[in-house]
This record gives sequence, structure tokens and C-alpha cells, in this order.
Amino acid sequence: MARVVVVGSINMDMVVVTDTFPRLGETLFGTGFSTSPGGKGANQAVAAARLGAQVTMIGRVGADAFGEQMKATLVREGVDVSHVTTDRQATGIASITLTGGDNAIVVVPGANYALSSEDIDRAAEAFDQADIVLAQLEVPYETVLHAARRARERNKPFFLNPAPAVALSAELLDLVTLLTPNQHELATALQTTEEHWADELARRPAGIAMTAGQDGVYYADEHRKLVHAAGCTVSAVDTTGAGDTFNGALAAFWHLGIDAAVRRANAAAALSVTRAGAQGGMPTLAELDNFLEAQA
Ligand code: RIB
Repeated sequence: MARVVVVGSINMDMVVVTDTFPRLGETLFGTGFSTSPGGKGANQAVAAARLGAQVTMIGRVGADAFGEQMKATLVREGVDVSHVTTDRQATGIASITLTGGDNAIVVVPGANYALSSEDIDRAAEAFDQADIVLAQLEVPYETVLHAARRARERNKPFFLNPAPAVALSAELLDLVTLLTPNQHELATALQTTEEHWADELARRPAGIAMTAGQDGVYYADEHRKLVHAAGCTVSAVDTTGAGDTFNGALAAFWHLGIDAAVRRANAAAALSVTRAGAQGGMPTLAELDNFLEAQA
């Protein structure tokens, strides 16, 4: 069982379903509304936990009803929340417009942006015990950088899902074991153009697995050869959290080697879009095994 530390955001997702995305200045009627647990950090923690990993979450919520609900959800999923602290600011929220299975998201970080380097240092024991440290960019960059430094000091693999995308410093890039962007995030993170993604993967062969939605994943294998893991065919209900499922699963299965881990994470991400909600479709280990067996 992999021990995974997740440094990241915890949001309440406010999901509006519409037939079309609203244009600037337009008012539309929606066809549905729901709230569901989200945040890239919490989503990745839940994805890894459902697949059997022992997960510790480092994050912040507000002293409000959403914060209580989000912590309770993580506990129900078996995630250790002893390093999820309560902040004076409100729990982070994401306003998600869902149209035809696709989404547009606005995040208001709230308490997530109070996550500090001290929070990381308070979780030193969890870092000591971790097999992998996993982070995203919905918490302060400095905190992520600090977590990466602490992971390196302990010789632990550090995975970074660079979302939402910003340009990454040379120092952070050097500390990352595996970067998991989509094509757009790769261009922003590495300050290159989107067309040059294949060159970037070849130039930095050991450390990037690029997700490509329905097209699957591109990565460099143990022999530094560019590999394409094709996407699995499923009918998509809600793509929110597919990338998070990929990341959580990749961490949970990393001990199997990159080929097996990517294959399983790719399948887990495909399964995740077949049900509503960022965490709603994340598979359990048994569901993933059945799916892979049916595909074989
Ligand atoms: O990756 C999906 C997540 O992004 C949502 O759950 C939302 O909270 C935003 O953080």
C-alpha cells in the first residue's frame, strides 16, 4: 500500500448545469444545480485513497459549514485529516458551469491560500513516512516550493500537477520527480508553445506525463522512449476531476513502475467521467480491476 501525502486545496464545488455556456453579458436558465466536494488537492487525495493508498492531506478549510462537510467527506474516504487546519477565511469554493459533459471553472481560494510553509513543517512526520508527495497549484506557490524542498531533503518522489498553470521556476522544476500537466498547462509551466509539447517531453524525458483528455496520456518510459497510452472509450457525463483522478491514481500505483501506473491511472481517469461530480465517479480498486479486465 502506497503512503501518499497530498499538499493542496479543498473546495466546495457549486455546479450549475446548462445547455450552452453563457456568452458575455448573457443570462441563461440552467437545468440543474448541486454542491459536491472538490478542490484539486482533496480530489487527488480521495482518488488515491479509493484505490487503496494510505493518504494524508495537508490543507486548510474555513470555520464554516463547507469546511466541516469537506473534512467529514475526507474522513469518510479514509483520508487522514490531522493536518487539515481551520482558517479564519472561508472555505475555498469553485463555481463550475457544466455543459454537455464539459466544464468551465472559477475558483475562489479562500482558506486554501493561507496554507503555509509552517503547515508543511508541522507535517514533518507524514513526510518522513511518505512514499510520494503530491501537489497542485491551488495553494500558494511558495508553500508548494517548500513542500518540494522538504520532499527532496528526504529523498521522496515529488509529483506536481501544475494546475491552474503558472510558469514554474528552475528551482521547482529541478525538485519535481514527475510533472503531470495537460497540453496547455505544459506550455505555461515550461514557457513554451503548445505545439512543442513533444519536443519538451523528449528534452526532459524522465519527468513528464502529459494528459490529453480522450486521447489518453503521453509520457517518457523507463528507457526514455516517448509512449502514448491511448484513452479508453467511455461515455462522458462529467469530466470534472478526471485529471485529479489520474494524479491520485498515478501516486497510488507508482510502485508498479511508470508503464503500469500510467495504464491504471489512465483507466481510472476514464472511469471517473462516467458519473457526476469531481469525486463522484472516482473508481474503487475493485471497479478499476473489473474495468481493466473487461478491456483486456
Ligand atoms: O480539477 C477539478 C477541481 O478544480 C474542482 O473540483 C474544483 O474545485 C477546482 O479546484
